[in-house]
Amino acid sequence: MKKVCFVCLGNICRSPMAEFVMKEVAKDSPILVESRATSNWEHGNPIHRGTQAIFKKHSISYEKSKSSQQIDLSDLEEFDYIIGMDEENVADLKRLSAGRFDEKIALFVEGGVPDPWYTGDFDETYALVKQGCQDWLKKILAED
Ligand code: 4NP
Repeated sequence: MKKVCFVCLGNICRSPMAEFVMKEVAKDSPILVESRATSNWEHGNPIHRGTQAIFKKHSISYEKSKSSQQIDLSDLEEFDYIIGMDEENVADLKRLSAGRFDEKIALFVEGGVPDPWYTGDFDETYALVKQGCQDWLKKILAED
């Protein structure tokens, strides 16, 4: 079973969106999906209401109990794919990895996913996340 972890700055907007969209997209595939934050800023906080609104709009099921959790070294060890939502997330992940798990760390999509915490545009986030998850699923299954 492949283990995938999506990572953003706060783990309340983009990476939980990717987590639950991927769970939907990969529902017939043997893939475990979680998400984490690079920071501890939102630790314990629930998924942002803008991301929850997207789940409702697109009938995506999600866990209401999901709360922000900061990534640590044991996660880098455990997951097979550690996917940063933007370039800064990838840089922070590489800093934590310090060469040990660099081959598992990747950027979600070229150019990154703009942060809706700042843009307010959760529909833009969803369009990028949906396409990106479909592309990643293909890639992950092809590497099986
Ligand atoms: P996310 O968005 O990284 O997509 O979860 C953010 C959430 C919180 C903050 C920044 C970005 N913050 O500054 O607390």
